[in-house]
Amino acid sequence: MTTLHQPAAVIVLAAGEGTRMKSSTPKVLHAIGGRTLLGHALAAARGAAPRHLAVVVRHERDRVAAHVAELDPHAVVADQDEVKGTGRACECGLEALPADLTGTVLVTMGDVPLLTAETLRELTARHEQSGAAVTVITAELADPTGYGRVLRDEHGDVVRIVEHKDALAARESGGELRDAIEVREINSGIYAFDAAFLRRALHRVGTDNAQGEKYLTDVIGIARSEGLRVAAHLVTDLWQTEGVNDRVQLARLGAELNRRVVEHWMREGVTVVDPATTWIDTDVTIGRDTVIRPNTQLHAGTVIGSECVIGPDTTLTAVEVADGASVVRTQGERAVVGPGATVGPYAYLRPGTDLGAQGKIGTFVETKNARIGTGSKVPHLSYVGDATIGEHTNIGAASVFVNYDGVNKHHTTVGSYCRMGSDTMYVAPVTVGDGASSGAGTVIRKDVPAGALAINVAPQRNIPGWAQAKRAGTPQAEAAARATGARHTTGEERA
Ligand code: UD1
Ligand code: MG
Repeated sequence: MTTLHQPAAVIVLAAGEGTRMKSSTPKVLHAIGGRTLLGHALAAARGAAPRHLAVVVRHERDRVAAHVAELDPHAVVADQDEVKGTGRACECGLEALPADLTGTVLVTMGDVPLLTAETLRELTARHEQSGAAVTVITAELADPTGYGRVLRDEHGDVVRIVEHKDALAARESGGELRDAIEVREINSGIYAFDAAFLRRALHRVGTDNAQGEKYLTDVIGIARSEGLRVAAHLVTDLWQTEGVNDRVQLARLGAELNRRVVEHWMREGVTVVDPATTWIDTDVTIGRDTVIRPNTQLHAGTVIGSECVIGPDTTLTAVEVADGASVVRTQGERAVVGPGATVGPYAYLRPGTDLGAQGKIGTFVETKNARIGTGSKVPHLSYVGDATIGEHTNIGAASVFVNYDGVNKHHTTVGSYCRMGSDTMYVAPVTVGDGASSGAGTVIRKDVPAGALAINVAPQRNIPGWAQAKRAGTPQAEAAARATGARHTTGEERA
């Protein structure tokens, strides 16, 4: 179907300001599901496989244009001039495309994020099969306030579209269009046009209306006056035609998008224990038989393998988790977790973390720019920054890779099959050889050769009776006195 009905072009209108967002960010650059509104619109447009794709910009032109270039380098950025309205926007888009363009031109909007490529493909096929000059996507709304109303003739063909403000004015003046305000079928603002017709009709559109703008919708009346057909493609999935105007709608559409994405993964064989508290961005993939536990957010670029356990209370951004791994109560970004590895509870994986197969990053552990090899473990209360750890090495509890000297960051390398003691400080740059060990509390300041035991703790001294002598009258001294009975020791006792 895509090859048979390939549109000549899609024009995405994105020049409007979006005042109701009350934002310093242009509306189309606000995001849901980890993608900007414009990003969703571009993905749908590309999915229709057009020969050309144009995006019309004006408000915050440079920011929006840069975003388009980043997302879709082959898209043409078209600038709208000071003439206002969707008609002028469309005209500017058309002018940026080859002058001899023929075939079907789709027009979509940068702020309608749930529209799918599939719907655009259906629209194209339907339009080309019907032979109409224009096919408009419409929807029936319980509350059509704000939308253009679709007026049909007795054959069901579209006669014209009346903007809400113009319909209101007509009711007040009791004119010919006085009943238009009652119509519940609305214009989605998404259309298929015959390119040659669109070009010639747009030249004829004026600005004589309530808003003083060049309306794209006027093209429909022009088609009729030329004796051409205008068809409607009524969609029942109303979400696909809903635009974002303010932050309330942004959240509403964001929640619906999430519901759809979560449902998609469940249908692909992922168990989502609590869909209501699970947020999965559009650009995430998850393998079969993975279980997502409550309160988990999987952000863009995250790739989860099969048979993993993720969550509860886990937020991952651009994290790759291989098959069979578990990541519990963890925050992670730009990290890799190998097959069968375990992370958390309460781990913080910062960028550049790469945990090998069957490895472990345990409880209250923070890692950054750290490559931890197959089967190696950092189980408890540690910071591992700027480090390479070999295979099957154990890093004792409460260890710190002291990577920062106050000016520069330095690297630590620990070999394979090491047994490193608890509370070891690795003062970088330092290298520990294969099969080495350290005693608890060691501060490693120089390299440890393979197989060596590093130990630099001073011998322990016990000073008997210290509590009774120096902390007399405290509960500590009393407890000490009870424990030692009448016995009084003086002097020092070496351990
Ligand atoms: C438009 C339609 C209306 C339809 C509604 C659907 C017209 C005249 N009216 O109204 O029938 O029911 O959409 O949401 O077309 N834009 C530009 N340049 C402009 C003006 C708008 O690029 O000069 C872009 C906006 O960024 C937006 C889209 O066109 O993406 C729609 O513009 P908007 O002002 O929201 O049109 P509506 O008044 O809602
Ligand atoms: Mg609008």
